[in-house]
Amino acid sequence: MGQEKITAKDIIALKNKRKITMLTAYDYPLASLIDRAGIDMILVGDSLANVVLGLDSTTKVGMSEMLHHAKAVTRAVRHALVIGDMPYESYQVNPHESVKNAKRFIDEAYCDCIKLEWFDRCLEVSEEIISAGIAVIGHIGLTPQTADKSGGFKVQGKDAEAAQKLIEQASLLERLGCFSIVLECVPDKIAKLITQKLTIPTIGIGAGVHCDGQVLVTYDLLGLFERFTPKFVKKYINLSPLILKAVEEYKNEVLQEKFPEPKHSFTIKEEELAKLKMEPLPG
Ligand code: KIV
Repeated sequence: MGQEKITAKDIIALKNKRKITMLTAYDYPLASLIDRAGIDMILVGDSLANVVLGLDSTTKVGMSEMLHHAKAVTRAVRHALVIGDMPYESYQVNPHESVKNAKRFIDEAYCDCIKLEWFDRCLEVSEEIISAGIAVIGHIGLTPQTADKSGGFKVQGKDAEAAQKLIEQASLLERLGCFSIVLECVPDKIAKLITQKLTIPTIGIGAGVHCDGQVLVTYDLLGLFERFTPKFVKKYINLSPLILKAVEEYKNEVLQEKFPEPKHSFTIKEEELAKLKMEPLPG
């Protein structure tokens, strides 16, 4: 794919051609680096709540925070498809406001499309948003916004009945017009079945290698989120200790007056300094 902006249609066209890459971003500098690295899709995930805002649940983040961060991401991105993740209250608590909120991601934050998690009114809400002309990526399996209500944060689709439900949900979302579906924490063989059944791409997170693409939370792969590390995460670098070391070094150099050095400081000519009418120092 060239350097032009990626569209939802381009993502569909990648199925069975090559794997699709997706990562989360919540700010300008990381979004810019992720885009420059050539990642296909950037999700402004509601994982913002946990990894950036220090909250204990994704349900605690709202539209204003999501839009604030989505705007920073779209300012940085030239190439990747940017997905705004609908926060819990924006469509699950208030389904009648879901189209209005989806539009805000597009019109105010300049996202290209939105993602929403499966819930009991998911089909109706997805249909309305798609009918409003907004591209939607579905999310089934472990859906963190409702995980507490549906048995906790664990692998989904582990028995035949539960797996059958996931296959049906994926097919229904495809039929409604979703352009892709995230499969979170699903056994790899079930993810493979869903991937083979659908004509739209599946993007896995903890769903094995057979999905059409993969997504991770960027703070996890960079080692910037220390509270817990799910089994499906691979840390490609562990930045937390490196950052800690740099900050401690800065602190020590300030305390020891080793920083700033003359090369970090600004000067004034001596003759200008001499012209200053200085009050004599007291005492
Ligand atoms: O919010 C998020 O980061 C997500 C990914 C885990 C897919 O939904």
